[in-house]
Amino acid sequence: MLHKELPTAAQLHQFKSDIADRMHIDVQFAQIFNGFTQTAHPMSMLCAAVAGLASLFHNGLDIYNAAHRVESALQLIAKIPTLAAMSYRKSIGATFVDPDPALGYAENFLNMCFGETGRPSQVSPTLAQALDKIFILHADHEQNASTSTVRLAGSTEANPYAAIAAGIAALWGPSHGGANEAVLDMLNEIGDLSRVGEYLDKAKDKEDPFKLMGFGHRVYKNFDPRATVMQASCHAVLAEQGVDDEPLLKVASALEKIAREEAYFIDRKLYPNIDFYSGITLKAMGIPTPMYTVLFALGRMPGWIAHWSEMLSSPFKIGRPRQLYLGPVKRDYVPMDQR
Ligand code: SDX
Repeated sequence: MLHKELPTAAQLHQFKSDIADRMHIDVQFAQIFNGFTQTAHPMSMLCAAVAGLASLFHNGLDIYNAAHRVESALQLIAKIPTLAAMSYRKSIGATFVDPDPALGYAENFLNMCFGETGRPSQVSPTLAQALDKIFILHADHEQNASTSTVRLAGSTEANPYAAIAAGIAALWGPSHGGANEAVLDMLNEIGDLSRVGEYLDKAKDKEDPFKLMGFGHRVYKNFDPRATVMQASCHAVLAEQGVDDEPLLKVASALEKIAREEAYFIDRKLYPNIDFYSGITLKAMGIPTPMYTVLFALGRMPGWIAHWSEMLSSPFKIGRPRQLYLGPVKRDYVPMDQR
């Protein structure tokens, strides 16, 4: 994605060592987490921390220099798992765990969340592999809302770390990357099978703002191909974890089945999307719900920075969406004492 071609063995080896060399977060910079309360949402901490990286990588950064763009990409891909794990550790009041250059990307992240500095990784290879697949499936998706945000912010020639922080902010919304967390909140709210019908009626009710989280898509009007892969991975993790009879997961299966059969969903081409299955998979993996969209951000980072770098590598103009003004044409000023 960054270099348009898959790497040779030597290039992959070099890339992995480039990332490992940049994963560490400076002790002074880590103080940024002292500014957050323990109840702070990990996405708010991640967004602020990535924006904060611009304070370390701004002076002398020439966005028109390809080598500087490659360095920005390496720094962001390397540091975001460490910052994400720090956000999680802060949210549980635990000390930070250092990155281990000997571990793979997904395993390193899980070890920084759930391991101990200096102790060998206890991360399950199955979970690390499932998380790696989630990262790959989320890596890029054309001009989705957060990628378009990164491009728009980058089109002003802003610092790339700031542009990526803008993308993280956009991803957080439950209509977009925040949907995986919203799926679990929805399943918890529904609670058990006896209430599925009530919530399906709410989803169909135009007067009710409730939407079925994890269903539908801005552009896919058929089954999201990523959801097919995610669905298989989800069922494999459920089986491996032996949790497929969990009440919430039973509700999820019922929603999945009904949405594939009910006219409301079929007529509107509303299918389970990647967030439906990733939310359930992450639940089965024991990942805390507030971290789900953080994981989406980790997966999407290569796509965001590749779009930014692609835009910068050829002539571009500042983004300037237009709008159609539909308000009154002329309005006379009304003095305050006559309002
Ligand atoms: C992601 O763009 C990307 O690529 C995004 C993404 C990526 O990789 O970056 O794929 C990641 O964001 C996936 C989507 C995650 N969001 C959710 O799961 C949230 C729940 N989904 C909805 O909020 C909604 O489906 C959207 C926001 C995803 C899409 O909204 P649209 O484009 O307005 O949906 P639509 O035009 O297809 O809606 C058609 C009809 C409407 O009803 P009518 O006016 O025709 O009667 O379907 C209804 C909608 O109200 N509808 C839903 C629904 N989604 C659409 N009704 C109930 N539940 C839903 N989830």
